[in-house]
Amino acid sequence: METRVIQVEEQHIQTGLLRQAGEIIKAGGLVAFPTETVYGLGGDALNPDSSRKIYEAKGRPSDNPLIVHICRMEDLAYIVEEIPEAALKLAEAFWPGPLTMIFHKSAAVPHETTGGLDTVAVRMPSHKTALSFIREAGGYVAAPSANRSGRPSPTCAKYVTEDLAGRIEMVIDGGGVEIGLESTIVDMTEEDPVILRPGYITKEMLESVLGSVREDRTMMSDLNGQAPRAPGMKYRHYAPKGSLTIVDGEEERVTAYINERLDCLKREGHKTGVIGTDTTIARYRGDVCKSAGSRDDERTVARELYRILREFDDEEVTAIFSESFDTAGIGQAVMNRLLKAAGHRIVYLQ
Ligand code: TXA
Ligand code: MG
Repeated sequence: METRVIQVEEQHIQTGLLRQAGEIIKAGGLVAFPTETVYGLGGDALNPDSSRKIYEAKGRPSDNPLIVHICRMEDLAYIVEEIPEAALKLAEAFWPGPLTMIFHKSAAVPHETTGGLDTVAVRMPSHKTALSFIREAGGYVAAPSANRSGRPSPTCAKYVTEDLAGRIEMVIDGGGVEIGLESTIVDMTEEDPVILRPGYITKEMLESVLGSVREDRTMMSDLNGQAPRAPGMKYRHYAPKGSLTIVDGEEERVTAYINERLDCLKREGHKTGVIGTDTTIARYRGDVCKSAGSRDDERTVARELYRILREFDDEEVTAIFSESFDTAGIGQAVMNRLLKAAGHRIVYLQ
């Protein structure tokens, strides 16, 4: 299959092109599209064959449910059993935006889309191209991140084509994404909403609307034998080919420790890499040193992290060290993804 790539600028949306993209979805095909978080791999959420194709194109286990993307609040009721009051409040505050909510599904949503579950994850993205595309596609687009299973989520169209060219009909190239990490997922099916995956919408932001919100216990830790409640969180996502170790502690000690380890690993024949920050990166002696941005604004780190992990793979780096990040704000999502990528290997310096 030849994959067509079309360029669509968020500020000058060409509806003619998006109509063609929408037709592909309606005919049961697949189209990757930009959102404010990461690129999604879209198919018709109400068509079981489309969902099967998504799993196949990604090489993803089919027990891992997909997120259904909508573009209008009035479209929600058709795919869910009921809309709890708390969900209405969160939608009012954060939709369109980087928040996914889980509901009991209606009969309209096939089990192929929900990985066999009776619940469905729903998100209304804020990216204008995404919203127009979803509308043209009929209103319900199932989309996981547009990467091959096991690779970091794509933050630009180039990474989508790297992973999926020849496997899908079209890629809508909307340039780089704004946030760089996947949406916050909140389970709304219980009395008290529970955060299953941290993202740009933080616990504090959710609590400013709802009072108290719980966090899934498996979210930041490596609890053995505990099944995470978002099935996708159990897979070793985001893992670079090289070994990744996070080093936490006071700045001077971290750079000294990492440099010592780098020298040693280089002698053993490793190609070494470092994820540092703007103020520290020049101090490292790794073969490939990359700054994830500024500590003053962890949003820059969120935006660069997946690109950096992909580049280490491309450059065949075999041993990587990363500085640790503050878990306030979006820093919690950054550390959640980084810890997963590292298989929870973290060194704490006293
Ligand atoms: O930002 C995002 O959410 C991106 C963009 C494309 O919207 N999408 C995304 O999809 O990250 P994906 O498939 O890579 O991650 C979806 C996560 C998985 O961990 C999955 O297990 C969880 O959502 N999930 C989906 N439906 C669920 C459900 N009914 N119950 C629990 N977890 C669910
Ligand atoms: Mg994903």
